Amino acid sequence: MTDKFISYSQDDTRALAGKVADKIKKGDVVALFGELGAGKTCFVQGFAKAFGITEIVNSPSFAIVNVYDGRMPVYHMDFYRIDSPDEIRAIGCEDYFYGDGVCFIEWAEKAKDIIPPDRKEIYIKIINKTEREIKIKGFNF
Ligand SMILES: Nc1ncnc2c1ncn2[C@@H]1O[C@H](COP(=O)(O)OP(=O)(O)OP(=O)(O)O)[C@@H](O)[C@H]1O
Ligand SMILES: [Mg+2]
Repeated sequence: MTDKFISYSQDDTRALAGKVADKIKKGDVVALFGELGAGKTCFVQGFAKAFGITEIVNSPSFAIVNVYDGRMPVYHMDFYRIDSPDEIRAIGCEDYFYGDGVCFIEWAEKAKDIIPPDRKEIYIKIINKTEREIKIKGFNF
C-alpha cells in the first residue's frame, strides 16, 4: 500500500518520518529513493529523533554506514559512492539487512538486487525549492 504526502518544509519531512518511527519493527529495511538534495537524510534525521537517538545524524556518504543506538540499533547507509553490489557485501551490509535493528538506505537503487525484497520504500520527489512529494510504501498509515 502506498501513501502520498506533500511536505512544505524540512520540519514537515521530519514530522512524517516521526510517524514512521511509530510503525517501525525490528528487522525492517527502509529503502529511500530520490535525487540529490531530495531530503532522504532529512527524513532519517526525523526518524532518528523520534526513535530516541540524540546524536547528530548526517549523510554517511564516506563511511557508507553509520550505526546509532536508539530504541534498537539503527543502521543508516548511503550507497551513493558504491559502484557494485560486491562492495556492499564486502562492507558487511548484509549482516545489517538481516540483523536485529532497523536499516535506512539512501541511494538504495545501487543495491536493488541485494537488499531484502520485503523492504519498505520511501520515494521523495522535488517539486520546488521547499516542496516535496513523499510516497511511503509498506507502512500502514
Ligand atoms: N520539504 C523539504 N523536506 C526536506 N528537505 C527540504 C525540504 N525543502 C527544502 N529542503 C532542503 O533540501 C535539502 C535536503 O537535503 P538532504 O541532505 O536531506 O537530501 P538527500 O536526499 O539526503 O541528498 P543526498 O542524495 O545528497 O544524500 C536540504 O538542504 C533541505 O533544507
Ligand atoms: Mg543524504
